[in-house]
Amino acid sequence: MKASTRIGDQPNRIDGPAKVTGAAHYAAEHDLPGLLYGVAISSAIAKGRVVSIDDAAARQVPGVVEVITHRNRPHVAWFDRSYRDEVAVPGSPFRPLYDDEIRFSGQPVALVVAESFEAARDAASLIRVEYAAAPHNTDLHVALGDRFTPKKTRSNFELPKPRGDAKAAFDTAPLRHSASYEMPVHHHNPMEMHAATVRWDGPGKVTVWDKTQGPQNVQAYLAEVFGFAKDDVRVLNPYVGGAFGSGLRPQYHVFLATLAAKMLERSVRVVLTRQQMFTHVHRPAAIQTVSLATDAGARLQAIVNDATGTTSRYENYMEVICNWGLMAYACPNASAEYAIAPVDTHTPGDMRAPGAATGMTLFEMAIDEMAAVAGVDPMAFRLLNDSPVDAMTGKPFTSKALPEAYRQAALRFGWDGRPLEPRSMREGGELVGWGVATGMWDAMFDEASARARLTADGRLEVASAASDIGTGTYTVMAQVAADTLGVALDRIDVRLGDSDLPKAPVEGGSWMAASVGAAVQLACKSLGDQLIRGARKLPTGPLGDAGRDEIDFHGDHLVVRADPARRVTFTEAMQGAGATELVAEETAKPGLGNMIDMWLKARNTHSAIFAEVKVDEELGVVRVTRIVIAVAAGRIVNPKTARSQILGGVVMGISMALHEESYTDHRFGRFMNHNLSEYHVPTHADIHDIEVIFVDEPDPEVTPLGVKGLGEIGIVGTAAAVANAIWHATGKRVRSLPITIDKLL
Ligand code: MOS
Repeated sequence: MKASTRIGDQPNRIDGPAKVTGAAHYAAEHDLPGLLYGVAISSAIAKGRVVSIDDAAARQVPGVVEVITHRNRPHVAWFDRSYRDEVAVPGSPFRPLYDDEIRFSGQPVALVVAESFEAARDAASLIRVEYAAAPHNTDLHVALGDRFTPKKTRSNFELPKPRGDAKAAFDTAPLRHSASYEMPVHHHNPMEMHAATVRWDGPGKVTVWDKTQGPQNVQAYLAEVFGFAKDDVRVLNPYVGGAFGSGLRPQYHVFLATLAAKMLERSVRVVLTRQQMFTHVHRPAAIQTVSLATDAGARLQAIVNDATGTTSRYENYMEVICNWGLMAYACPNASAEYAIAPVDTHTPGDMRAPGAATGMTLFEMAIDEMAAVAGVDPMAFRLLNDSPVDAMTGKPFTSKALPEAYRQAALRFGWDGRPLEPRSMREGGELVGWGVATGMWDAMFDEASARARLTADGRLEVASAASDIGTGTYTVMAQVAADTLGVALDRIDVRLGDSDLPKAPVEGGSWMAASVGAAVQLACKSLGDQLIRGARKLPTGPLGDAGRDEIDFHGDHLVVRADPARRVTFTEAMQGAGATELVAEETAKPGLGNMIDMWLKARNTHSAIFAEVKVDEELGVVRVTRIVIAVAAGRIVNPKTARSQILGGVVMGISMALHEESYTDHRFGRFMNHNLSEYHVPTHADIHDIEVIFVDEPDPEVTPLGVKGLGEIGIVGTAAAVANAIWHATGKRVRSLPITIDKLL
């Protein structure tokens, strides 16, 4: 009997072959008869009004079918009522082509629709738009005067809770550090551009292949916004070419494509260009001032942590920037203020570890400076001040294996014997520095459903409307099913990315493996119960009087654990049930016990990150030669796909430290480096050794599978470890990321 794959094994991605052979089709790769192509035209000003749009020349281009603007677009239900998507933030979402008002540079002002992409693009270049510009501001420093803390916050947003008297404690403490740190705007830059192919299936009926992290979120959006019946809208995203949060909310490309389909009663595809991707969702810029103080023994006495991030003028985008330091460190006096400042851009959005990637990273740069002021090794400083409970709320963690993560990573890195003083290590012409930081993220669990179906040919299908954005969801769901029912991995089909499938939340927050995994396990268990009931109806009574808990599933058999000779095949059990297929659908949700537990316990992932850099002092060139990261993220379903997630997060962290920044020309209010040659991300030559360790962290409380999720933890704090290593190499503290050559020279 072939041993089946278990949770904790590391099979290759089951969707890998489809992806590398081109069999996996992405949103813009569905060809339809009579398909029309839409090209969006982006506003040249950041604020003001559209005075006129001259489309005469564009309409002369052969193949052009329509030029859609706010003047001739059809009326849609949304223009009469408000609608906010599943993960919208408070405010009034942007409504494309609603009126003549321009709210951000690059806002779509028209959609040219043609029989070919080339005709649409050619015609788009001939459109002349006249604007009346109004004064705008896109600079966070200028907007600081307008900063405010909204009363109404988004769901699961927690304002920081103060304790003690942080300002007084800071003023009287013997050792202090205070400085401001800055994070620039980042754009998500997934490989797959934002795209939607809308098939017109008849009046009010559409099938949409969209680049999204939530097909049901887009389904509900399109139904509400266009006034379609929900059942008449089907949204598919079986493959997603990366997203990092850019596909959490429905973006304007899917609105434009559906609007054109409705107006022309034809199928339409809209693909944004890389440049146009820089006109919408992004990680907000933030400024964070951190004041820290310790007693003479390097024990933290005060934390004052204030931050301001940008938002748009029409929605209040908020993310948890300030809380992490207050949660992570034991300190009797701590306070934080979080505010947002409106600028004339599209609304920022969640980007990989939103809030923590900014707030914890900048805080960990400040912690390093405090350790240096106190004259203590930065790892020892962190362990000395580590809080075993959530220090902000006082709640115990369901688990926090951070000290063990530090122990293992430090050993692998060879941290012992690191000189305290900066500029102490050299290798040839390069300065060498070692830095460290802590990472922290949430371990979330959301309601999700899944269906399991066993057919007479012995194949098992598990299905959920969840998305796999490249994280390995297909594979880990197959593993959970294999683990539960003992079916070989190559006989399991996983279906995801279809709004018709059982309900699942958007793929984000690192909650997918824990939430949908729990649903898949429940569905498979319930299917197992049906098999047992079927087997009991067989006249041969193959299972004897073995109870439910005494029966195992493996190799397509039900087996009595104490007496393995007592066994029956799935096929026979199905015959007993008189069925040619068995189907079970179940929902996993935080139950009452679980909810009480949620109020009483904190749920987080943690990491310890060590970085080595080599700096060419004459040229200012930094190489990150080694990273060792130890992650405490509960139970690891698949160490191979998990490692890939951490590697990707770490690479993004290195990028945050050295490369990544969306530059705004504030005169135009526009992101200028809107392409992959000027928006710098690491190339292979920038990435050297990265070692990932998963520490053992059994945690049956955190979620039903003991899984905490790890799509985001890898980015949190990594840039701080690199920045701290750069200081150790050079003696320079650069407090605004990225640390580019000009800042080091
Ligand atoms: Mo993630 S920013 O929740 O896709």
